[in-house]
Amino acid sequence: MAVTRREFVSTTLAGLAMLDSGLAWADPAQAIAPGATLGAEDGYRLWLRYAPLGSQAEVYRSAVRRIVVEGSSPTADVTRTELASGMAGLLGVAVPAGRDGIQAGSVVVGTPATSSAIRGLNLEPALKALGPEGYIIRSVRVANQPVTVVASLGEVGALYGAFHLLRLVQTAQPIATLDVSERPKVTLRLLNHWDNLNGTIERGYAGRSLWNWASLPDTLDPRYVDYARANASIGINGAVVNNVNADVRVLSPEYLPKVAALANVFRPYGVKMYLSANFAAPVRLGGLTTADPLDAGVLAWWKAKVDEIYRLVPDFGGFCVKANSEGQPGPKDYNRNHAEGANMLAEAFAPHGGNVIWRAFIYDEDVDPDRAKRAYIEFTKLDGQFKPNVLVQVKNGAIDFMPREPFHPLFGALEKTPVLAEIQGTQEYLGQARHLVYLGTMWEEFFKADTHVKGPGSTVGRTLDGSIHPSRVTGIVSVVNPGLDRNWSGHHFSQSNWYASGRLAWNHELTARAVADEWTRMTFGNQPATVDTVVDMMMRSREIFVNYTMPIGLHHLIGGDHYAPMPQNAKSQRADWTATYYHQASKDGIGFDRTMRGNGAVGQYAPAVRDRFDNLQTCPEEFLLWFHRLPWTYRVKSGRTLWEELIVKYYQGATDAAGLQTTWQSLAGRVDPQRHKEVADRLVIQVEHAAQWRDQILTYFQQFSGMPLNPPAGSSAPPVSRGV
Ligand code: GCU
Repeated sequence: MAVTRREFVSTTLAGLAMLDSGLAWADPAQAIAPGATLGAEDGYRLWLRYAPLGSQAEVYRSAVRRIVVEGSSPTADVTRTELASGMAGLLGVAVPAGRDGIQAGSVVVGTPATSSAIRGLNLEPALKALGPEGYIIRSVRVANQPVTVVASLGEVGALYGAFHLLRLVQTAQPIATLDVSERPKVTLRLLNHWDNLNGTIERGYAGRSLWNWASLPDTLDPRYVDYARANASIGINGAVVNNVNADVRVLSPEYLPKVAALANVFRPYGVKMYLSANFAAPVRLGGLTTADPLDAGVLAWWKAKVDEIYRLVPDFGGFCVKANSEGQPGPKDYNRNHAEGANMLAEAFAPHGGNVIWRAFIYDEDVDPDRAKRAYIEFTKLDGQFKPNVLVQVKNGAIDFMPREPFHPLFGALEKTPVLAEIQGTQEYLGQARHLVYLGTMWEEFFKADTHVKGPGSTVGRTLDGSIHPSRVTGIVSVVNPGLDRNWSGHHFSQSNWYASGRLAWNHELTARAVADEWTRMTFGNQPATVDTVVDMMMRSREIFVNYTMPIGLHHLIGGDHYAPMPQNAKSQRADWTATYYHQASKDGIGFDRTMRGNGAVGQYAPAVRDRFDNLQTCPEEFLLWFHRLPWTYRVKSGRTLWEELIVKYYQGATDAAGLQTTWQSLAGRVDPQRHKEVADRLVIQVEHAAQWRDQILTYFQQFSGMPLNPPAGSSAPPVSRGV
């Protein structure tokens, strides 16, 4: 397919370089301004569209006359070109860029080591406090000229600052008198790709894998650069590029040069390469007879393998390991525990400064009858036994990325082991790429949940950033699924979940609303009515989804595809993969008794949290059936019976989904036609499937409640379901 000049300019680094040489990318048809004719957009440019600001551009032109980035490192080069092309696109004029030539209205970017202008400003003490990834953006005078300086101790920090300045302009914020200081709250801000070497993506909903292993290392798709740019723009500093259900071949001499080629593309943007490693690799790849972590030959094999990786990728980040989980090999195959397994790998990484990220997503049936309790039991026993470069990665909830889960009791519980949070942007259980669901609100709820491990205010976020238990390494990881779909994420709004996972990893105290507002402005323009409408839709979307799928603490009412309702699912290879195991509906009632009178799962939380969840009077209603088993006639706070409340929630959810659709229709003509239509098409599916969720779940539960299924006033009775 022919590539137009604008596409080329907007999507490749070479294109950015063209802009650097004075060729402006400014297409008035891209403007999202009142009355403007809107050109079609396909979503490829994500939140880095740099669409002309139209009349709003005027106020920025005097502050952005020239880009000066001293130095000639790859990072300095991409910083210069990104700023020049971005500002040119936004302001609708060419913005010259170079390594020198500071004049009034220059944007001067760099580090004290690379820039004499920045050295002269004596910012070093302040920069040191912000670390190599932190930055300052300030309106200052250099040689008596007004300039905007973007400074960091590290070049990648300066790049982050450049993206911040671009964001300010993209979102139409004032930049005349800036005094910004930023530092990331956690050290590792990673993405996990569940991409297989054959190009498929586990739980991926946006086409095939970005990584074209067959054509690597010789052919470098320009998309790799755009992927790295997008990540740098939100502060992501590492990516595990292959599935946690890991194919050993990724560690082979055939694949490692391909991995190294990708790492070379990512490096200027500060995105470090990580791999998922299969614990049985010494046997399956190395031909050894065992992968026992206490076997000297096994350790030697891993040491040699890790050395080989570092020869090719000198700044390699480390391994992510899913061991003894869902059929994956691990140390327990040899009667060793998780610490023994992780520590053996950690020894191989120690000389190189790399980390072993050991996933806590394990749920062996022999540990406890309740899946929700198992990881806590295994990992709290091992706290203090892990080597310093082992990090334990814990999913936000104890089951599996449900639409709503209470926070995992492991957060705050490990005092001597660094814990990373694993959140999931792919919407595996949240409508995949078919439903409009913004996850920022879910993650805000998670990061702000109070673990009480060191008294009130011990939020999950603070357990992660080292404020509660000081830690050398801290981190937040998101399982994302950009794929080869032209718009990367399948659903245009799913881009917001990639975006939000990075922004919240940078600062878990940002509000979901603030992040949605930024994303909307960058993605759909700054027109106030559009911004307000889109942000409002996003802010409500997750609760709407919860209501029409699994309200009041219900969970796992879903089929094996993790999309469609299947509350009747009672048969699977494992009980804890069914639905009946979780809802336990019978004539007597519904819900999983995890109280102290039940299976005691609440006891895994700090006493204040335990008591709150344990007590029916204080348990938040959104977690009611997660922790309590109740009769259908139980009166909830609204005064309705539990059965009536379920009906109200499911109807509310399905009705609100239809409301999202109506609201989106009202944006016709304000959002460019292509993206408007593509979102509208998916909303048709969402509305239909929301109604089907409602009908199937309520009809199924009615056989147990035996009570009338009276729709709330104004709604019609459930039709006979056709199935999702
Ligand atoms: C879920 C998901 C799997 C994935 C697993 C994991 O169970 O459905 O596809 O492999 O989580 O996180 O390891």
